[in-house]
Amino acid sequence: MHTPPTGLYEAPLPADWPEPEALGFGRILGPYLAHAQHGEDSGWHAPTVSARSALSVPVAGGGLQYGFSVFEGLKAYRDADGRIHLFRPRDHARRLQQSAQRLVMPEPPEEVFMTLCQLAVQVHARYVPPFGRGSLYLRPTLYAEEDALGFRPATRHRLAVAVTPCSDPLPKSQRLWAETELIRAAPGGLGAAKTGGNYAAGLAGQMRARANGFDDVVWLDALTHREIAEAGTMNLFVQIGDEVVTPPLDGTILAGITRDSVLRLLHADGVRVSEHRITLDELAAAGMAGQLGTAFGVGTAARLVTISEISDGTTAIRFRDTGLAARLYERLKQVQEGATHALREWRVAVPTPQNP
Ligand code: COI
Repeated sequence: MHTPPTGLYEAPLPADWPEPEALGFGRILGPYLAHAQHGEDSGWHAPTVSARSALSVPVAGGGLQYGFSVFEGLKAYRDADGRIHLFRPRDHARRLQQSAQRLVMPEPPEEVFMTLCQLAVQVHARYVPPFGRGSLYLRPTLYAEEDALGFRPATRHRLAVAVTPCSDPLPKSQRLWAETELIRAAPGGLGAAKTGGNYAAGLAGQMRARANGFDDVVWLDALTHREIAEAGTMNLFVQIGDEVVTPPLDGTILAGITRDSVLRLLHADGVRVSEHRITLDELAAAGMAGQLGTAFGVGTAARLVTISEISDGTTAIRFRDTGLAARLYERLKQVQEGATHALREWRVAVPTPQNP
């Protein structure tokens, strides 16, 4: 275990610290960053912890100029005994490597990723909400750090982990706007990489959804504009008859870790699941035939959100609450928080002085 510098564990919580239910998401940032630098010749340097304000990003570097930056989002939860665990960190490490590879950046070894995540949690242990009342969200970010404008792979990169304590997301229902003009990703593009460019490409769609009175956007495929791909920050699932369908990992959508967890839970429950393309028209036809059940979106930040409607402004597809999403939400929460023995292998303990 890498031990953080003495004293950091004791970083006091601010006096006006909110109740866990009022933390929201991303509003309060932990005061430290766990980080490690990579040099073209020197490889990965030893992980360390600094004040968040001590690191700066070069304005003329590839991170800001050309978007050479990839990231992850994972959560740490406290179990009923107060112990802290990271949820599926090795899977997040692997996905970061895949994103880095696509953007020609150095792939952080799993041990570096794990050490940085552990350090980030350890120095912010007091920021992890109590059992069942939220989580600490970690944002490992790999970016080009060389101060140079040439368009080529950078010679220096850094992986830094920021954290934000957040509330347990509520399983509230959303109405989604299917965006038929703008696109998020095309075959062969960056869609599967967790990189800022995808989010930058997506914000206008989210704004259009809101302007039309919806909660979030559903991205459609770039070629026909009819196949559902993913929502703004979530993978999608729809229940049709006795089957649950989710779009396939064809390189245009993010390979969500929560998507994978939900697939495992559905299989374990004996639910028929399939990963295949599905169009708005097929959904509308299934609705007309009375075959549409629940729809839901899943993601690390969002966990699992029920979808009541998807509309492209012409056709409104309405889903029926069969109770499946609520059951899955509870199962997922139990697994993530260690309230069940099932799938314990997904949780990696983070030792702290309080819980060595
Ligand atoms: C996550 O769910 O981890 C994400 O990255 C979504 C984020 C844009 C809020």
